[in-house]
Amino acid sequence: MKIKINENYKSLKESYLFSEIAKRVNAYVKENPDKKVIRLGIGDVTLPLPKTATDAMQKAVQEMTEKATFRGYAPEYGYDFIREAISKRYKKFNVEIESQEVFVSDGAKSDVGNIVDILGDNKILIPNPVYPVYLDSNIMSGRKVEFLEANIDNQFLPMPPKTREEGLIIYLCSPNNPTGAVYNFEQLKKWVQFARQTGSLIIFDAAYESFIVGEYPHSIYEIDGAKECAIEVCSFSKMAGFTGTRCAWMVVPKALESSGTSLNKLWARRQATKFNGVPYMVQRGAEAVLTEQGEKECNKLIAYYMQNAKVLADLFTKKGIYFTGGISSPYIWLKCPKGMSSWEFFDYLLQNAQIVGTPGAGFGSAGESYFRLSSFGDKDLTVEAAARLDNLL
Ligand code: MLT
Repeated sequence: MKIKINENYKSLKESYLFSEIAKRVNAYVKENPDKKVIRLGIGDVTLPLPKTATDAMQKAVQEMTEKATFRGYAPEYGYDFIREAISKRYKKFNVEIESQEVFVSDGAKSDVGNIVDILGDNKILIPNPVYPVYLDSNIMSGRKVEFLEANIDNQFLPMPPKTREEGLIIYLCSPNNPTGAVYNFEQLKKWVQFARQTGSLIIFDAAYESFIVGEYPHSIYEIDGAKECAIEVCSFSKMAGFTGTRCAWMVVPKALESSGTSLNKLWARRQATKFNGVPYMVQRGAEAVLTEQGEKECNKLIAYYMQNAKVLADLFTKKGIYFTGGISSPYIWLKCPKGMSSWEFFDYLLQNAQIVGTPGAGFGSAGESYFRLSSFGDKDLTVEAAARLDNLL
């Protein structure tokens, strides 16, 4: 063919982190069919959906079988019932979000990846290490990216740069994937101040907020002034086991504007053109998750996963291996033992203990020589993984 392709794609790593891991693990399993592999790599949930959610989804499926209650295209921004339920949820954090500021989507990954559509050629600030979608989606659109290094010295919580530039796009993830570090109120306030002073936009990824323990902001809008400088992304995936069911939301406050243009309107325009909404049944399930009973059931799921985190954390404490996370985060972020690089340790664990984790380097150069283990696995398998690690390390 003689078409021009998007040359920016040539600047990406050959494959997406979790696809690369899956490829290596599948090859290993093919060669070693008798080995029992324990997967603690991608943060994919293993417990079934809360009953409240499945009941609501079943009822919704039933509605689809009757002409009177059948639904066709879903509204592209989400049904009013769920936009309102999400808006109400923010009241728990003493935050007022209007339902028209909430956009329901099929995933935080999609939102974080798609937001670049409405943004121009700004300089981008991305923590390193962090969830790889922020970087990849900006490379795809040819943006210039600078990194904010997260390391032991700053407790994996990079703060605003000293030199001030106008109009940056800043990605923050708290609790952080992969390190588990959580910004406190003071730190987040500094970021909001910085963004307001420089006319920058923060894209705040709160996908893991339901794992927070203690007095930390769950939403960036708990900080005064954030509505004038921040978009927030959140998801039902980790909170309610929706990784395969798909439902998330993004808050684009009406107060967000640049040169007289409303970002809320731009995003609405983008979604209306490129998105046809989340299935009705899924939105009903997600709505049920936000009820009191739904929340109770989600808390049980979270407690189960956090017990897994504890099993892993106890093991690394016993072994004297440095790690963070595992408290307000479902991930354990550990320093690779014996001076191994991230991918060396990945291979070492797979070959010698049949455990799959995620190499820290996959989250950015500053993640080199670190490794992430997910606590979203099955309880017994996590205990078995800890025993294998105890033997090996
Ligand atoms: C992760 O493992 O980092 C996440 O599950 C990936 C995702 O949410 O897309």
